[in-house]
Amino acid sequence: MSVVTANPLFESASLLLRVKELEEQHLEFRNSVVCAFNQLLDLKDLNTGVHSTRLAEWALRVARKLNIPEEQLYQVEVAALLHDIGKIGVPDAILKKAGPLTAEERALINRHPEYSWSILRLFPGLEQASLYALHHHENFDGTGYPAGLKAHDIPLVSRIVSVIDAYDAMVSNRCYRQGLSHDEAVRRLLASSGTQFDSEVVQVFIPVAEQEAADVFAAAGTSTTAVL
Ligand SMILES: [Fe+2]
Repeated sequence: MSVVTANPLFESASLLLRVKELEEQHLEFRNSVVCAFNQLLDLKDLNTGVHSTRLAEWALRVARKLNIPEEQLYQVEVAALLHDIGKIGVPDAILKKAGPLTAEERALINRHPEYSWSILRLFPGLEQASLYALHHHENFDGTGYPAGLKAHDIPLVSRIVSVIDAYDAMVSNRCYRQGLSHDEAVRRLLASSGTQFDSEVVQVFIPVAEQEAADVFAAAGTSTTAVL
């Protein structure tokens, strides 16, 4: 009778291989979820999706300059891409309203960071990004929402998203208004440094925005005062 004895080295190697396979499957699934959510934003409003992709690139550049560790950059990217996913819970008639909003409509729009958090937190591996999304409308002086957090109590990634989101909103065209020039948007970022925005993040972001404006200028062969 032959007795097959298990080789412990072989067993642990195949176990490690299996763990690696499962990890890869998990990452693949997580990336698919992020892409699907981004697609959802595109379907909701094309500009929002494109805007999110651009924000993600800027957020990564700023995060690296602020020495956020490489292993945390995925959460930065997801937060920048999907921080507004909660807008799916706000009716289009309010989101796209050209005229002034009523207090009730404003209150409903202001719920979107909580909606974003409530969606993203359900996915294993996106918990950190969900917190960054929750706080992306906090102001440095504590006057923002939803928690009224102040200064460095606001997660750094949320402070980054806040600055680049505001810049992007200022320079983008909307159906009801023309976007501001790069120079004017930077002037407004600086004017609100220390109140709405973290001045350190603004200082780090300005060269990134300058580069973006120069690239657009080079690509379009037009003035940098044209919208991005
Ligand atoms: Fe937002």
